[in-house]
Amino acid sequence: MPPSTTGALPKTPTVLVVGATGYLGAKVLQAMAGRSDVVVRAMSRRAQSETGWVQADLMDPASLDRALQGVDVVVSSANGYMKETIAADFVGNRNLIEAAARAGVKRFVFLSIVGCDLAPEVPHFHAKKVAEDLIRGSGIPFVLVRAPAFLDQADDYLANGLKKGRFYGIGDRDIRWSYVLTDDLAVCLAQAATHPDIEILNNTIDVSWSDGPRSQRDLSRIVAEVTGKPASLWIIPWWVLRLAVHPVRLFSDLGYDLLQMFLFFRTGKFLADTSLQRRFFHPPPSARDAIARWAKRKGLVDQVQE
Ligand SMILES: NC(=O)c1ccc[n+]([C@@H]2O[C@H](COP(=O)([O-])OP(=O)(O)OC[C@H]3O[C@@H](n4cnc5c(N)ncnc54)[C@H](OP(=O)(O)O)[C@@H]3O)[C@@H](O)[C@H]2O)c1
Repeated sequence: MPPSTTGALPKTPTVLVVGATGYLGAKVLQAMAGRSDVVVRAMSRRAQSETGWVQADLMDPASLDRALQGVDVVVSSANGYMKETIAADFVGNRNLIEAAARAGVKRFVFLSIVGCDLAPEVPHFHAKKVAEDLIRGSGIPFVLVRAPAFLDQADDYLANGLKKGRFYGIGDRDIRWSYVLTDDLAVCLAQAATHPDIEILNNTIDVSWSDGPRSQRDLSRIVAEVTGKPASLWIIPWWVLRLAVHPVRLFSDLGYDLLQMFLFFRTGKFLADTSLQRRFFHPPPSARDAIARWAKRKGLVDQVQE
């Protein structure tokens, strides 16, 4: 079914944030907090003590039907592949999209991944591509927000390494790929939920930095500039990843998935195009600006050098 572009939002839309307890999802929730022009409903499988939360499971369609009652906009960054099972990314996302269509949701904002359609060999990239296709075919007006690599992570191995004077990297010093800071990504997802310009609908929008993809040598140099502390590069070479990828599959689905992902990065195709980001969201920050904010928050500098 072709997606509609006529689904205007009510004056105070109800937005369901799916994945709201996650590292990124909590930032999306935070980016919408305190706004008087939206009613925010947050979803988790676990009961939460605060008001505004609804309990539902991506694997349980009936629970999704309940969670979606009265919802105008869905924003989802939920995933299962990182901590549990990739079934949530395939079956769970399909359940959510079907339930959203049944509920007559007016806008579906989905967090996807840059280049997910170029890497069928990376399981969680493929899951995003399958979900994107289901959304495009659902008839629900949508905004697909595609993220590149997160500079920051919940368990921030990069910041932890830098505290020991080491920049931990994967592959080599020179191949470039795109990055984003999750604080900035969360703001874009929140903006997409209620963006007043209906031209935003049915677009796929990459979110990254204004000055393009970066190599790990670039990143370590910028980190050294903003912190005033040079770090030595500690890189796991490509050949180790190539040797490990098949044995790892025997005991870790996530390990296999991530190794395949890094081997895809090696192709040089993990690149964001920020033209629609510039049009619909705030101007993308430069790599230096994003890295400076991250370094400051991680306590890598007392005072970021201007
Ligand atoms: N790391 C990167 O470099 C990178 C790059 C590009 C894109 N991404 C994408 O960014 C997102 C990361 O989000 P995050 O950091 O917030 O993830 P996270 O910390 O792993 O949290 C996962 C979230 O998904 C929810 N969830 C999982 N299974 C569920 C189920 N069966 N039913 C309902 N909810 C379920 C969890 O909710 P409950 O446990 O509370 O139910 C939780 O809120 C992912 O979509 C990932 O693919 C990551």
